[in-house]
Amino acid sequence: MGRAVGIDLGTVNSCVAVLDEGKPRVLQDKKGGKFIPSVFAIDNADNFIVGSAAEEQSHMNRENTIFAVKRLIGLKFESDEVQGSIKKLPYPVVEAPNGDAWVRVQDKNMSPIEVSSFILRHIRSIAEEALGEEVDKAVITCPAHFNDAQRQATRDAGRIAGLEVLGIINEQTAAALAYGMDRIMEEGNDSLVENKDKIIAVFDLGGGTFDISILRLHEGQFYVMSTNGDTYLGGEDFDLAIVNTILWMAKHHLGSDLTKDTRALQRVKKAAKEAKHTLSEVKKMTIELPFIAGGMRNLNLPTTRKDLETMVTPLLKRLDKPCFDALEDAEITQKDVTDVILVGGMTRMPAVKYRSRDIFKCIPHDGVDPDAAVALGAAVYSGIVLGDIDGLTFQDVIPLSLGLEIQGGQVYRILRRNAAIPTEVTKVFTTSAPNQNQVSVHILQGEDKFAPNNTSLGRFELEGIKTAPRGEPEFAITFAVDPGGIVHVAAQDLDTGEKQKVDISPSAGLTEEEVQHLIKTRKAEEEQAKRLANRQSQSEAQQKSDEEKQSEALKNLLFLTQFNLDTQGTSYIGQRRKELEEAISNARKALESGQPQSISETLKLLEDQAAKLEAYIEEDN
Ligand SMILES: Nc1ncnc2c1ncn2[C@@H]1O[C@H](COP(=O)(O)OP(=O)(O)OP(=O)(O)O)[C@@H](O)[C@H]1O
Ligand SMILES: [Mg+2]
Repeated sequence: MGRAVGIDLGTVNSCVAVLDEGKPRVLQDKKGGKFIPSVFAIDNADNFIVGSAAEEQSHMNRENTIFAVKRLIGLKFESDEVQGSIKKLPYPVVEAPNGDAWVRVQDKNMSPIEVSSFILRHIRSIAEEALGEEVDKAVITCPAHFNDAQRQATRDAGRIAGLEVLGIINEQTAAALAYGMDRIMEEGNDSLVENKDKIIAVFDLGGGTFDISILRLHEGQFYVMSTNGDTYLGGEDFDLAIVNTILWMAKHHLGSDLTKDTRALQRVKKAAKEAKHTLSEVKKMTIELPFIAGGMRNLNLPTTRKDLETMVTPLLKRLDKPCFDALEDAEITQKDVTDVILVGGMTRMPAVKYRSRDIFKCIPHDGVDPDAAVALGAAVYSGIVLGDIDGLTFQDVIPLSLGLEIQGGQVYRILRRNAAIPTEVTKVFTTSAPNQNQVSVHILQGEDKFAPNNTSLGRFELEGIKTAPRGEPEFAITFAVDPGGIVHVAAQDLDTGEKQKVDISPSAGLTEEEVQHLIKTRKAEEEQAKRLANRQSQSEAQQKSDEEKQSEALKNLLFLTQFNLDTQGTSYIGQRRKELEEAISNARKALESGQPQSISETLKLLEDQAAKLEAYIEEDN
């Protein structure tokens, strides 16, 4: 049995953590990095490349490098989210036969689930290398606003990556668990069992999205009170605002329009991001773009932190509304918030930190690393699921209302948004026509009264209903939402008591058959790779032992030859002595260098010379 890890599968970067004797810690890659770029690419030779290697080659292979695939996972091509993202992505997004958004890489259409599975498999291998043991279970996090299809898609990506997915939990809830664990470690278990409840705001500004969650901490249990956010507000938007300012300056100062020059534009984007990072640390700097305009002119822009804040003021203002909406949904005010936890790379920007402080009137807690909080919390949750941690748990909420389509295309609400989960609701339904043997059930997620304006989660058919007048047969449908927000449905015919297995055909994502096929393919590939690696390590071991034998033989021969020469070779003189001494000296150098090639070459030469000496000694005697 392998280990369990917690994975923060981010839009830009991912991070993985493990629980070691009740304490979560981040796992690093071979170079000591904790960020794993969520990037996948296929090169011209059809090699699949993932993580930092994929990021490093991206500037030479832009169209075949997939990043930010989290923006597409589990979504329909026609959805507003996908249509909005397509404009920003440099690779082609295509419509799959089932209407899902897929990506096109090196003439291959791939589902975002499959792409994510490659990223997750890479994360798994980094974790295995860091731990020196197999990893086969994981808790994976997702944004609070993810609907059921997006969560199922994330879970399937984990399964295809060879992981048993212990749970899919919200990123901010995970961050809150990391905070809870941090307090337990700092102050002991009793710290969470105080008389007064804590109200915690988790403020998460990442690469692509802004999410806010309000939680109540009561005796070691976190209750999510509300979640809110802006799915179109993240670090990339801040970068864009800086890019636009630089482009305007280039036009104004140099008279050059850099928007048409792809290479220049790339450099501007890189400089903008670097400036954003640098100005989180220092108060002023110069953005330097040498030979930028047609390769001829330099652009040097002295920039202060204040300038940067002016460029992004409209974006900073957009942080307010989701926070106030979340407070309202939680039926509390700013005054009630006792702690603010910052999550996501963008919260390193001082202006973002101050904004969170001003909104919640509370200085943010700095005990948990904002880049690692989500992964650490996911690792904590893996411990809760596996029974390794007690005294800490959570109750989440559903991000969007859940309902059924009824006559006239209207929605019948089963669960309202922000309803506590896990939960189970059973509703009794009947037929709407005489002798109706079959009922079609359409499950929806969203807030609109009319079915087409909500996200379709799936449909199923209830069959075998007894022939009877309208309104007479009764059947119960149970909707269960698990702790990760994934919806499960069961049906029971109340006349016969018979339970019916409900297969919801997913409205987005892969079918179970497709998932199983990919699981098998990946497993076969992994086994093949293991066999190859085994064979390689066997042949390497063989080669190593051959080399060791040669080195040993050379050492022995060297000793013997030198001994013979010293004791019986005083009359072995002239050219032949010179050749022998040269062979001895070369053999010594080869042994010192440890080079297998020169050891084997000098061994042959010394063997020749040693044989000549022996022949001479024999003759002489
Ligand atoms: N020191 C810094 N100052 C300002 N911004 C930073 C700093 N470090 C990282 N960032 C920004 O943080 C963003 C990435 O944050 P993060 O890694 O939390 O995103 P993510 O988890 O991949 O995205 P999401 O949570 O939206 O899925 C990038 O826009 C990056 O430029
Ligand atoms: Mg994140």
